[in-house]
Amino acid sequence: MKKILVVGAGGQIGSELTSHLRNIYGNDNVVASDIRPVDTIKSDGPFEIIDATESLKLAYVVQKYNIDTIYNLVALLSATGEKNPMLAWNINMSALINSLEVAKMYGCAVFTPSSIGAFGPDTPKDGTPQDTIMRPTTMYGVCKVSGELMSDYYFHRFGVDTRSVRFPGIISNNTLPGGGTTDYAVEIFYEAIRSGSFVCPIASDSYMDMMYMPDALNACVQVMEADPKKLIHRNSFNIASMSFTPDILFAEIKKHVPNLAVTYNVDPIKQAIANSWPNSLDDSAARAEWGWKPESNLESMTKDMLKVIGEKFKAGILK
Ligand code: SER
Repeated sequence: MKKILVVGAGGQIGSELTSHLRNIYGNDNVVASDIRPVDTIKSDGPFEIIDATESLKLAYVVQKYNIDTIYNLVALLSATGEKNPMLAWNINMSALINSLEVAKMYGCAVFTPSSIGAFGPDTPKDGTPQDTIMRPTTMYGVCKVSGELMSDYYFHRFGVDTRSVRFPGIISNNTLPGGGTTDYAVEIFYEAIRSGSFVCPIASDSYMDMMYMPDALNACVQVMEADPKKLIHRNSFNIASMSFTPDILFAEIKKHVPNLAVTYNVDPIKQAIANSWPNSLDDSAARAEWGWKPESNLESMTKDMLKVIGEKFKAGILK
């Protein structure tokens, strides 16, 4: 049985990945960690406070629990990264490098998500190939490409079992994302129910790849469970499930919330980032090398998001 450490377990992905991994591998085999206490996660399994920019505590926890797999989910997202580029570089890269160094010392595998943000304006926009020009123009993207290169370096040079996927915008109904360019596609669902109106910061016709959280969680597990002999790539695999514009998403939500009112107030920083990213990725390498196959599409994701968030409002968990 694996012994897993999730670093950054309080974030949008970490909060759900921790429960998902605990369901698969057992509560005691998945240690959650974050820079501050996360009450919902603390109660059902081991929890440690770790500042991922410091390597000592990370090494201590890996040794204490005999960890063999690290999921490093620490990152400042793209729009926040443009407001404070050096902070983004320092946090994103030091969390990664500390994870890789500790993994090298203690023989752990490492998963660190990359992103559609690893691509840039010179990248082919539609059907973006697995191996293509990257050259991102955001600090977030610079960190993601550097992270991919560092992870491959640690694999080739030191034999650390590093693997990764390039996540699109992740749509979820547990923990909100923050400071990302794709956040609008989550926030709209809350506002559709809360106020019936939404001000969108991204232009109505901007395509970006998106994915529902259950598919993202499956990707995290499947790529780490994949047969290493079949992996031609490692850091990092394109994965995709749906690509839409704000207009397309709002039309789908309006099928269920007909009175939803959407206006646009485009945020220039977020829009510039969105313009530099691909419209849709080609995920054929992930499909061929480890059997990637998403289950959700725009229709099923929209229905489920409205159902789950609606229930939370009804129960008074959300206001
Ligand atoms: N969701 C991220 C962002 O918008 C992209 O990976 O920054």
